[in-house]
Amino acid sequence: MYKIAVIGGDGTGPEVVKEGLKVLKSVSSVFDIQFQFDDFDYGGDRYLKTGVVISDEEVDNLRKYDAIYLGAIGHPDVKPGILETGILLKLRFVLDQYINLRPIKLYPNVETPLANKKPEDIDFVVVRENTEDLYCGVGGFLRKGTKDEVATQEMIATRMGVERCVRYAFEYTKKRNRRRKLTLCAKTNVLTYAHDLWWRVFNEVAGEYPDVETDYAHVDATTMWMVKNPEWFDVIVTTNMFGDIITDLGAMIQGGMGIAAGGNINPNGVSMFEPIGGSAPKYTGKDVINPIAAILAGGMMLETLGEDAAAKAVEDASIAVISKMKSMSAGKMGYSTSQVGDMVAEGIKK
Ligand code: IPM
Ligand code: MN
Repeated sequence: MYKIAVIGGDGTGPEVVKEGLKVLKSVSSVFDIQFQFDDFDYGGDRYLKTGVVISDEEVDNLRKYDAIYLGAIGHPDVKPGILETGILLKLRFVLDQYINLRPIKLYPNVETPLANKKPEDIDFVVVRENTEDLYCGVGGFLRKGTKDEVATQEMIATRMGVERCVRYAFEYTKKRNRRRKLTLCAKTNVLTYAHDLWWRVFNEVAGEYPDVETDYAHVDATTMWMVKNPEWFDVIVTTNMFGDIITDLGAMIQGGMGIAAGGNINPNGVSMFEPIGGSAPKYTGKDVINPIAAILAGGMMLETLGEDAAAKAVEDASIAVISKMKSMSAGKMGYSTSQVGDMVAEGIKK
């Protein structure tokens, strides 16, 4: 029996999570896997009512779950940063989900803005470090509000943090067993301290994986190759900030935010799975948002729990439904949010 904490969150988050749960319930009956789903109301609405984002005790309580299934965090009436740092980043940091795993995969029948690129050309995974870098909140203001104001925000790279991420990426590349190629994406020509550390650790760990081919690309060049020659990539390992940026580009080339899923992974603890598209407030309650990303995130959750066959069934059923959809964009799918969820749930088979 898997205990899953469900955080629908803000905007369309609860709607897409509802469809994901439909699919997981179907998985439960077809594969005889038992789930217990517990709902939590963390998000913008609760914050506006109570002033609480998520307390230390509430985060601690999530440790007793096998995984967390998250919709989206971000509310139009809350100043940017409060919910993001107070909930999403707090969960990632406190639960030490040090990997953000983001597959970039173009499924058949999905439109990509890249001319002449086919599913076989766009199939790679970004391993984004998820607990360090510019995301640590190290910095501050001096003389705030005056004309002599100074603001700093430090980029943190620790030996431990970089090494565990790089090791995970090598292991993942080996286990994925496709082209067995791992590309480090950094900016060693400018970030001569933090990324020198990344470069040294990457090459050191590479020595333990003679069967994994290594490659390097500066982040600016990475964005260029992702558009021009995405087929060059198998697995990319990168820093938190660069990973944030390149995975939005990745989501676009794989067909949009409606289809991009991700996992915040602590290999020794509680991991959290989410569609990466955000709360899309303008579509809230309209039954038009694409739930496929949330459904695929549920599939990633199953894979991380070790339920490989069930995970594959979720992906296969999603692919079958995607092939019938007119578009991956909200309101243009040819089906409603709940219809897409129903169709995937019905398509789950052994
Ligand atoms: C993401 C998001 C978050 C991030 C925001 C909402 C804090 O953009 O998951 O990519 O920057 O990591
Ligand atoms: Mn992002």
